[in-house]
Amino acid sequence: MNFVRKLMILSTCMALTTPVFAAELSEKQAKNAVEYRQSSMQLVKSNIVPLGAMAKGKAPINEEIISKNALRLEQLGLMISDYFVADTRNNDVSNKASDAIWENQVDFNEKAANLAKASKALQGFVANKETQNYRKGIAAVGATCKACHDDYKKD
Ligand code: HEC
Repeated sequence: MNFVRKLMILSTCMALTTPVFAAELSEKQAKNAVEYRQSSMQLVKSNIVPLGAMAKGKAPINEEIISKNALRLEQLGLMISDYFVADTRNNDVSNKASDAIWENQVDFNEKAANLAKASKALQGFVANKETQNYRKGIAAVGATCKACHDDYKKD
């Protein structure tokens, strides 16, 4: 095996074994990380907006949509922590994530888990036909957005 090939194999192994979060992010990695996490938030938003309209009486209650979107919101809630592992504090990519995320990761992850939990509870209300809890359940999901944004999203 020639030297260049050995070097290539070595550097590939290093790239595979070095955890992303421990390394300083390149500009490109930071840009991707911000794009992915903001996209995850856009998906969160797109799933709660129709439910918010139902809770406010601006759209008729539709159990199928509540269940489907609440399942998606649960899944997205479970993804948030992963999408915020990449620490972009030392990069110049424009974004609204507060530095506090990487100083209080346990609390941040708990707030993400609360979105998943509230979304799961909402699915339960529909499964059990607890119609009196639909609006309350949707509001509880919405409250988890605010709880996290208040502490970890810049205005
Ligand atoms: C665990 C924390 C957390 C939770 C829960 C959370 N968010 Fe966010 N959200 C953030 C952070 C941090 C940002 C800023 C991300 C950035 O700019 O990189 C953000 C950004 C956003 C954005 C802007 C995305 C963009 O394209 O710039 C939207 C929209 C959003 N959140 C909607 C929501 C909604 C709706 C909910 C609840 C259903 C929610 N978020 C729950 C932390 C959270």
